[in-house]
Amino acid sequence: MPAIAESTPAAQRHRQRIEDLIGAMTLEEKAGQLNLLADPFRWLPKAVNPLDGQGNPARVTALIREGKVGSLFNGVGAEAGRRIQQVAVEESRLKIPLLFAADVIHGMTTIFPVPLGEAASFDPDLCRRTARAAARELAASAVHQTYAPMVDVARDQRWGRNVEGAGEDVLLNNVLAAARVHGFQGDKGLDDPEAVLATAKHMAAYSAAIGGVEYNTTDMSEQTLRGVFLPPFRASVDAGALAIMSAFNDVNGVPASGNRKLLTDILRGEWGFEGFVLSDYTSEQELVAHGFAEDARDAARLAFNAGVDVSMVSGLYLEHLPGLVRSGEVSMARLDEAVRRVLNVKAALGLFDDPYRGTDPERERAVVGARQHVELAREAGRKSVVLLKNDNSLLPLNKRQKIALIGPFADDVDNVWGPWSIWGMPERRVSLEAGFRAAMDDPSLLSIARGSGIEAPLNGGIEQAVAAARAADVVVLAIGEGQQMSGEAQSRTEIVVPAPQQALVEAVAATGKPVVILLRNGRALALEGAVKNAHAIVVTWFLGEQMGNAVADVIFGDHGPSARLPISFPHRSGQQPYSYDRKTTGRPANPDLAQEEYKARYRETPNTALYPFGFGLSYGDIVYGPIQMETDQLQWTGTIEIAAMITNRGRREAEELVQLYIHDRVASLTQPGRLLKDFKRIRLRPGQQEKVSFTLNPRQLGFIGADEAYRIEPGLFDVWVAPHAQGGVASTFRLIGPPSITDGR
Ligand code: BGC
Repeated sequence: MPAIAESTPAAQRHRQRIEDLIGAMTLEEKAGQLNLLADPFRWLPKAVNPLDGQGNPARVTALIREGKVGSLFNGVGAEAGRRIQQVAVEESRLKIPLLFAADVIHGMTTIFPVPLGEAASFDPDLCRRTARAAARELAASAVHQTYAPMVDVARDQRWGRNVEGAGEDVLLNNVLAAARVHGFQGDKGLDDPEAVLATAKHMAAYSAAIGGVEYNTTDMSEQTLRGVFLPPFRASVDAGALAIMSAFNDVNGVPASGNRKLLTDILRGEWGFEGFVLSDYTSEQELVAHGFAEDARDAARLAFNAGVDVSMVSGLYLEHLPGLVRSGEVSMARLDEAVRRVLNVKAALGLFDDPYRGTDPERERAVVGARQHVELAREAGRKSVVLLKNDNSLLPLNKRQKIALIGPFADDVDNVWGPWSIWGMPERRVSLEAGFRAAMDDPSLLSIARGSGIEAPLNGGIEQAVAAARAADVVVLAIGEGQQMSGEAQSRTEIVVPAPQQALVEAVAATGKPVVILLRNGRALALEGAVKNAHAIVVTWFLGEQMGNAVADVIFGDHGPSARLPISFPHRSGQQPYSYDRKTTGRPANPDLAQEEYKARYRETPNTALYPFGFGLSYGDIVYGPIQMETDQLQWTGTIEIAAMITNRGRREAEELVQLYIHDRVASLTQPGRLLKDFKRIRLRPGQQEKVSFTLNPRQLGFIGADEAYRIEPGLFDVWVAPHAQGGVASTFRLIGPPSITDGR
């Protein structure tokens, strides 16, 4: 008996009912359960997909009545949810409830920081709590499933969707994927009225798009696939996610949405996944454009037999599965299996007991946008702000001085939410200006000048900005990317600040006033000129509805900056694809010897990061003492303690994120020059020191070997206790053990 059928009392109770239903269903009704359509009935304030707004309510109502729709997505609202559900439950022959889903990536009505920004908090519990709040709002709005978390590991900052994920490191992705799944699904079972089903997406390797071009081909070794791109999906499944979305891209020549190895052999065979797989928006239909399927029917056959249980939007399964079963090209067993998976999840969600869960408008009013969610948005916002540079302790700013807040984002509210924020309340967006005024002792000391548009100059903007700067004690420049510049289909060739804004910063910096840069961004940026040379640089992402308040909390020192970069900021765009955990090569370049020839480096720039993964300053002054280890040998069945004394020499309290990295010096396959293995956060008062200690065991030291299995090989390891991926105090230890161990993980 699959565990999902036992997962909640609700699922157990309905085991027999599900079998009876499968026995009673026509082929068309079975295909209907696997048909997922856009919700044409409920509230979708803006188009987020190509066909949005073209849905036909009368047609979809008729299909629901005929049992030809299993789920709807991207509509929210309790009352209307009840009316739609009523059609399924009261007017269709078998009365199977609909499953309602939505793209709630970083909050439904209360908008939290974009996931990449929140990943900078390196705080799994925070990520769990914002996902929990989002789930509460969704569940109260008659939605049962979210299409999140996105767990695609960021490898190329030109690609636009890194903003939806947890950055470039595998461990951080794993930990945050699990935290977000726990947050969405809760810990009381899916039938809890505050739980929604999590969907890990997009399986797999979508973010490895060659050249960073959206939807592009991917081509990689089995080691990279299994060692980098698959682990966060595994972590999501292990955390209990019962839905997986298949990706648009192909992987080594086989489209992900027609990829049996990924969606069946690995996902089910190796990982024991029991939920259902859904295609991404028409991705099964796109097997034709990929040149993998001859026509729509062929695409339905290939995708379905590969393991895509549910078809999103295209209607292909409804149209073709009955015929494919009749002709024997798809087995009835496969069809029943997919239907059983969907019905099991519906049962686990409690929909067979209460199809109207989440349809109480009074509860919806109480929960959606609740005060405590707004407070959480502000907390999450300030915990996501990364301080990159702070010459002469320019920050925190004094609240009693003349501040010129300049740039396209100075008073802007249209770019605080970030991509995938569909159901937010526009009137609740807090601009930087509003946040600054609320924080300052005398708000009249703040002057505002836009200076430039996001991608186009403003007539007279620079002159006005320079005048404002001259009249101020300090300049804060709010510049960077608009929220339309990252997200789906927003790949960029150059990951730089748009030229008109760069020109603005150059002109303002030339006044000689102290300059603080507040970067708004959905990806890492290659900083240039006066932006790079500013006195202080702060990464503020898209922090959600409380953005202005959250930034003010940090800028004025009410809360010290505590976040760290989850992605490396390179010197130049041309370094992409880039991540800190690259291989050493046979000719590693010494970054201090810029002109050394015949080394793995560029002509123009070292192949390091300007600001590496894990980097971020506090308002303290943190120093790392030497590594402390009682032994330099790790026994096969043992553990090793690695510690360092961390001291705050500064005059302000500080939070430090202490990171543990390793490098496997000699292995049967070359290994990353550094790999994150653990991290711990500490808070230090001025003058305080604390010993931070990590425990490593051999199981943490393995990699995917030539045989595709997880291997642990004895030998010498470098280890760093570090403030980021390019620093720290180092030592070595030796793993003692049998020649090598494969554990088939
Ligand atoms: C995106 C998915 C999203 C889906 C439904 C697709 O274009 O790739 O992430 O869940 O649309 O809106």
